[in-house]
Amino acid sequence: MSISSSANNDRNSLEARLKIDYLLDIKALEQDDVEDVIDGLGTTPKSLPARYFYDERGSQLFEEICQLPEYYPTRTEAGILQKYATQIIERTKAIELIELGSGSSTKTRFLLDVYRAFNLPLYYTPVDVSGSILRASAENLLTDYPKLKVQGKVATYSQALQQLSTSFLGKRIIIFLGSSIGNFNPTECDRFIEQITTALKPGDYFLLGIDLQKPPAILESAYNDSQEVTAAFNLNMLQHLNNRFQGNFNLDLFKHQAVYNQTEHQIEMYLISQQAQTVTLESLDLTVKLEREERILTEISRKFDLAAMKQYLGDRHLNLIQTYTDPQQWFGLLLCQFSP
Ligand code: TRP
Repeated sequence: MSISSSANNDRNSLEARLKIDYLLDIKALEQDDVEDVIDGLGTTPKSLPARYFYDERGSQLFEEICQLPEYYPTRTEAGILQKYATQIIERTKAIELIELGSGSSTKTRFLLDVYRAFNLPLYYTPVDVSGSILRASAENLLTDYPKLKVQGKVATYSQALQQLSTSFLGKRIIIFLGSSIGNFNPTECDRFIEQITTALKPGDYFLLGIDLQKPPAILESAYNDSQEVTAAFNLNMLQHLNNRFQGNFNLDLFKHQAVYNQTEHQIEMYLISQQAQTVTLESLDLTVKLEREERILTEISRKFDLAAMKQYLGDRHLNLIQTYTDPQQWFGLLLCQFSP
């Protein structure tokens, strides 16, 4: 067999194990984007939707954040997953693993490794709004895990969960890592958990990664790294808006700030206007006035208490069956079973 035809066969066998559904309604999303920018910049205090972080440059910067010495969550969660992956799979025996916000699926590999080692069949459903990232990481996984079948969805969480609530292949586990749940406000969080439970059958599982409360200095330095990658990531949102809506934000006239709000138990990320200024987003026909020191909220990252989270999930029929954590109790991985 020639090299090229064997490469073709490899490709064919990959494609046979790969299915990707495209559910995004681009027109509707663009409409939401426009409305959210106009609302967010038109209301006091000003805010911008966090999804504007993730243009191509933003996604790249985010990958860098995950590797920073100060940014402990990624590393800590990966360590916990690595240590307990076998236990988790033995306990759940899921044949369908759904991951919300899968991105590069790097941490998920610890779970996939267990399926491979024990020669267990698995349908993996990564869900992400970035089609290019989803396809690229799916292809890498299929190469490395010869028995894996991937059924990805390029979708919002809500679209994916709605669709998944009517199609079950067998024992299911939904995973949501990176403490991304902390980026929802309480109302969004309630709605999200409700959607999770509609996509589970009694006895199915939910694995949730949460960043835990800890001394503010540690939290604040995680979001104010010395290399200023997080600052660049935050400021890039303005560049993204400039590109998208013919804007004239001058990035030099804004400063990154991340502070821990001890009452709300959340990191708040802001962009602070360094002087009184007027900014225009031409294609939105929008003019925005900012005062000196005025802040634009770009993200919250809530930090959780294990006992309170257990109660919250239990109240929603997600019974905590095992808590995995690191020796410092900086991060928690919560395995829950849906018991309505
Ligand atoms: N969900 C993670 C967190 O809140 C990752 C994250 C989201 C993040 N947005 C961020 C990290 C902005 C740094 C900056 O920590």
